Amino acid sequence: MKILVCAFHPNIAESRVNKRWLEVVNSDPQITIHEVYSTYSNWSFDLKVEQQLMENHDRIVFQHPFQWYSVPPLMKKWLDDVLDYGWAYGSGGTALVGKQWLCAISTGASAESYQLGGSNGYCIGEFLKPLQQTAILVGMEFLPPFIFHGALQASTKDIDASAEKFHYYIKDSTLSPQIQRIKLLEAMS
Ligand SMILES: Cc1cc2nc3c(=O)[nH]c(=O)nc-3n(C[C@H](O)[C@H](O)[C@H](O)COP(=O)(O)O)c2cc1C
Repeated sequence: MKILVCAFHPNIAESRVNKRWLEVVNSDPQITIHEVYSTYSNWSFDLKVEQQLMENHDRIVFQHPFQWYSVPPLMKKWLDDVLDYGWAYGSGGTALVGKQWLCAISTGASAESYQLGGSNGYCIGEFLKPLQQTAILVGMEFLPPFIFHGALQASTKDIDASAEKFHYYIKDSTLSPQIQRIKLLEAMS
């Protein structure tokens, strides 16, 4: 399985979490890192290059800090531009069918705040529904996301541990909900 990490951080130099995650996976030959903010400081994508990157990988990891309950602005533009009619969807648009979409997100606020009755009102999955449906529309399998809550309060030790978990998680070939269902059925029999 070839893994592409599309990292969207508006200010990676100041990042504690997302920068560490990238450092840890950097030398893994199974993983290609694509730092989109530093590649396109003019916000004008080379669509052929972006689309070929996706075509050449099986699992696309969208890695970013959570911003206003959503994705950083360049990621929104990237989705608008790169998931093009006739390539990702619409007539002849089948390039992404069968690939996997994995969100890897850090949030400033705590896990406790992201639940019903918490200060952020909803669990993280509620906020990710537009991304999930985008993945489904283009024929991709949306995997259970990797979430690191509480980034603003996290110690260096917490962040180092999250980076190890991130590395393990994004390579886990059993994340697919179908595989999880089969494993559950096997455990029950
Ligand atoms: C413009 C902006 C909006 C943010 N919005 C949210 C938010 O909606 N929810 C949240 O939990 N954290 C929010 N944060 C905090 C970031 O998610 C947090 O700083 C980041 O995950 C830390 O990762 P880093 O060390 O890689 O920068 C926001 C930060 C910025 C700069």
